[in-house]
Amino acid sequence: MTDREITYIGMDLGTFKTSVSCSNGKRDVVLSAVGWPKDHIARGMLGRDVIFGEEIFEQRLALNVVRPFAKGVLKYLGKEAAGMPGADLERHKEAARLLVAHAVSLVDAPAGCPVYGVIGVPSRASVANKQAVLEAAKDSFDAVIIAPEPFTVAFGMNCLTQTVVIDIGAGTTDICPMCGSFPSDEDQVTLPIGGDVVDERFLALVRELYPDAKLSERRAREIKEKYGFVHNMNEKVLVTLPSNGEPKQYDVTKPLKEACSSIAGPIIEGLKQIVARFDPDFQDSFLQNILLSGGGSQMRGLDRLLEESLKQYGGGNVRKVYDCVFAGAVGALRLAMAMPEEHWSQIRTLESAGKETLCRAA
Ligand SMILES: Nc1ncnc2c1ncn2[C@@H]1O[C@H](COP(=O)(O)OP(=O)(O)OP(=O)(O)O)[C@@H](O)[C@H]1O
Ligand SMILES: [Mg+2]
Repeated sequence: MTDREITYIGMDLGTFKTSVSCSNGKRDVVLSAVGWPKDHIARGMLGRDVIFGEEIFEQRLALNVVRPFAKGVLKYLGKEAAGMPGADLERHKEAARLLVAHAVSLVDAPAGCPVYGVIGVPSRASVANKQAVLEAAKDSFDAVIIAPEPFTVAFGMNCLTQTVVIDIGAGTTDICPMCGSFPSDEDQVTLPIGGDVVDERFLALVRELYPDAKLSERRAREIKEKYGFVHNMNEKVLVTLPSNGEPKQYDVTKPLKEACSSIAGPIIEGLKQIVARFDPDFQDSFLQNILLSGGGSQMRGLDRLLEESLKQYGGGNVRKVYDCVFAGAVGALRLAMAMPEEHWSQIRTLESAGKETLCRAA
């Protein structure tokens, strides 16, 4: 088989969104959620058995919605671990499988060609979590490699050495040092914080401050994405929210800043922990090359706030990836295309030696 016959796909399978990039030049992004019509009336109205993408928000009243990777945990492994009844667990598994298949379908891989994929997952995803991703992916790919998401970001940006990638997603924040080789699990830190935690905190603070204001989770996220910031600024964030059925203006500057800033402390702690493990001769180089990725990296002022906090450790340089939506998927694609064919076919069953996990499906 020649390389040309193989279609390669890089996938960033996130808690909140899944982005895909394909060797045929196509790329796309979709919400990491699956909606099923609640009953046959809803099925008739929607005209489909399964709904993906933004339509899930629009039609959510008529749908049962599952976010299979919610909270950064691949929740559908065993019902004890998942903390949900068996039927829900099966739903999550099915949702994960449908989501991967849908994401692959978005890039129109040519029919009949083998499809090889690299899928990015949170840094410290357990062996069981990786197995769950492989299960979700095995019908859509002929061969799959699971790689830590910050590594795919770094690979895509050619930052393979003396760089620390901080990927701030919805469910988790991954901190991964790049030392010129594939990072081991022990090298990395995954913090259970991200955009979801910011949204929850913002929602709680607004409800406390303005008990009469009606703020939904979705609207809280939208406000954060539009105005989210962590630095001092003169302008106020004024939003219109319903109050007893009437639209009313609220100043949410303070709760928004507090919620957005809440993740900076743990990130600095995680970063310190990682950098302290290195030979002091190299610590400064890592601190001078900090790369922020993931949707959370878009919070205004976060790069400067982190630099400010690093002054007490001798200073640091923090920059953001050029494209937080596709950096992971594009890097995963680049990794897939760089992998020699023998490497893909060598490993036929799931193997996890603390390094990458490879699986040849079927
Ligand atoms: N401009 C923005 N400002 C602040 N937060 C943002 C912005 N854009 C997106 N986000 C947040 O980033 C998070 C999604 O990030 P991303 O798409 O990297 O997550 P993910 O990869 O799906 O999650 P994970 O990596 O945890 O599995 C959401 O919480 C979203 O609200
Ligand atoms: Mg992510």
